[in-house]
Amino acid sequence: MRTVRLESPEETHRLGVRLGELLEPGDFVGLIGDLGAGKTHLVRGVADGANVPRSEVASPTFAIVYPYSGRIPLYHADLYRLTDYDDLYATGFLDLEGTESAMLVEWLDKIPQAAPRDYLRVTLKHAGGEARVLMAEAFGVRPAALLDAWMG
Ligand SMILES: Nc1ncnc2c1ncn2[C@@H]1O[C@H](COP(=O)(O)OP(=O)(O)O)[C@@H](O)[C@H]1O
Ligand SMILES: [Mg+2]
Repeated sequence: MRTVRLESPEETHRLGVRLGELLEPGDFVGLIGDLGAGKTHLVRGVADGANVPRSEVASPTFAIVYPYSGRIPLYHADLYRLTDYDDLYATGFLDLEGTESAMLVEWLDKIPQAAPRDYLRVTLKHAGGEARVLMAEAFGVRPAALLDAWMG
């Protein structure tokens, strides 16, 4: 488990960029934290780090899963509006796991069974004003290597 304090949105973005540079096909990153904790903000950084065109990330859509094409294919999912595993099944999300894409999944705690066996869990917490505390925990060999590379 690694913990970092992020004093500003820019710091969160920079940390996201670094993760985006490191992601490989098949990586799964679950993002947990209250509304406004910075999950989406971090994902924007990841998308930048993975060379996803800005227009893709900015595009408004009501889908649960957003495909991005960067250095590698990425899926950005938000489970906030889902209630159970059946919902998830209906979205087609489960078919995307373990493919040649990396997955970034907000509100993973809403449907914990959405996570594969190996994944990186990132939790963001408000810490007053613009400060946030990010905790990252790896489950599995590749996620542990990813976490080491990310946090140094
Ligand atoms: N240190 C920080 N890291 C990330 N976001 C921050 C930070 N400080 C302030 N913010 C602001 O908090 C909000 C986070 O929103 P968002 O990323 O959509 O949260 P979530 O997806 O977790 O609901 C943004 O408006 C962002 O500018
Ligand atoms: Mg969000």
